[in-house]
Amino acid sequence: MKSTVHCFLLLLLLITFALCVPNNVCKTYKDYLTIQTNPNCWYDVAADENATTIIKSYGYGVEIHKVTSPDGYITTLHRIINNTSVGRRVPVLLQHGFLNSGACFIGLGKVSLGFMLADAGYDVWLSNSRGSEYSEEHTTITHDDIRFWNYNSDDISLKDIPSILNYITIRNSQNGKIIYIGHSLGGSVALCYASSFPQKAKELVKLFILMAPAAGLENTKSTLVYILRPIISSIVDLFINTNSAKLLSTNAVPTQFIRTFCRRDPFVMSMCINLANVMILGAQSKTEASMVPIILNQYPAGSSLKVLKQLVDASRLGLTAYNYGLKNFEIYKSLLPPVYNITKINVPIYIIHSTADWAVTVKDSENLYNQLSPQAKTYGKYKITAKDFNHSAFLFSKSSKLLVYDKLLRLLESIRNQ
Ligand SMILES: *[C@@H]1O[C@H](CO)[C@@H](O)[C@H](O)[C@H]1NC(C)=O
Ligand SMILES: *[C@@H]1O[C@H](CO)[C@@H](O)[C@H](O)[C@H]1NC(C)=O
Ligand SMILES: *[C@@H]1O[C@H](CO)[C@@H](O)[C@H](O)[C@H]1NC(C)=O
Ligand SMILES: *[C@@H]1O[C@H](CO)[C@@H](O)[C@H](O)[C@H]1NC(C)=O
Repeated sequence: MKSTVHCFLLLLLLITFALCVPNNVCKTYKDYLTIQTNPNCWYDVAADENATTIIKSYGYGVEIHKVTSPDGYITTLHRIINNTSVGRRVPVLLQHGFLNSGACFIGLGKVSLGFMLADAGYDVWLSNSRGSEYSEEHTTITHDDIRFWNYNSDDISLKDIPSILNYITIRNSQNGKIIYIGHSLGGSVALCYASSFPQKAKELVKLFILMAPAAGLENTKSTLVYILRPIISSIVDLFINTNSAKLLSTNAVPTQFIRTFCRRDPFVMSMCINLANVMILGAQSKTEASMVPIILNQYPAGSSLKVLKQLVDASRLGLTAYNYGLKNFEIYKSLLPPVYNITKINVPIYIIHSTADWAVTVKDSENLYNQLSPQAKTYGKYKITAKDFNHSAFLFSKSSKLLVYDKLLRLLESIRNQ
């Protein structure tokens, strides 16, 4: 008897909760003013929850895997499980860019790249780079320790990526080599990895698909890069051994400030997004209002100052190892840090880039393409010319399915049984 009452109360609670889920996204900025009563507003789980919950809420299973790198950093992988799909479950690794997390591949609901791949029968793994929201663990130090935040993107390319690829290969070896899909910095680390370990990369990876890949940012139009360029070395030197080394982490004040402040009201929201457009992304126009809370629920997602410095340095130096400045000679025996030689890569690389992208320009990704070996160029490249399809559109634009993902899936299907 007592337990029936309990059950009933619990049920009532669940129903009340389900009926009261507050709206959190709207069609236009103006709609946000009356968000709770406006029929143009609704609840989107991606604007509210973490990666695990988002995946579950779309009916998929999720497995959380932890991969430890040689230097003790622990990367969290979210594996999307679709038990009803049929066919050979070819493994696909999705690797995000700077200040993103794996959640960026599941922000568009059913037409997110992660879910489209899972529906098509792929074994989908979302990586979360060290220091990002879901990967703040280490075997011996905590993320409160400032030493945790002292890493650069070579560490991701040469320690984390090999560990992740090995791990997935062990878990799913019967369905062929891994398809690696990277956005932005997620593409750069693939290039650094594969040019450093060309033999190993050929053994483990069938194809690299790089969306807006940055191999060098010599032609970037991101204002922020030019603002940071003269000061970034001093910032790193000043902060790296202090508490401010955590400046870009998910829990740091600036990150939390951006995430909450920018969501406060529609005016501030559009101001924040327009600022991002002007400083980083691309030609000024309005970001789809319903995507803003989703973007701000997961971005910025945490990284280190040295990764930022390496990105900024790429606008001068190209795709090189970390630039230690005066200490280069001691460390590399040369004045400048060594350039990653991407000609050495002999795995096919498919490049997708966009003319409206200011961060990674067409010129820079064509420079990258031109350096590739003939084997790497097997599938060529693809240029999107749609107006407004900027750097973040690859992840957060409602036209991504049509312009990018459908095309990717067709390419993957065509080579599935090779
Ligand atoms: C994700 O969110 C769910 C529900 O809000 C929570 O129970 C869970 O602990 C969260 N997971 C992580 C890793 O934060
Ligand atoms: C899984 O895949 C099947 C078949 O490809 C698809 O119909 C279904 O919607 C997918 N999603 C889930 C959550 O099962
Ligand atoms: C880069 O690698 C290619 C192919 O192995 C080689 O021919 C070339 O000399 C290398 N370039 C540099 C600058 O080391
Ligand atoms: C950038 O891409 C987003 C996502 O698709 C889009 O909504 C926005 O309009 C674009 N921004 C600019 C400045 O074109």
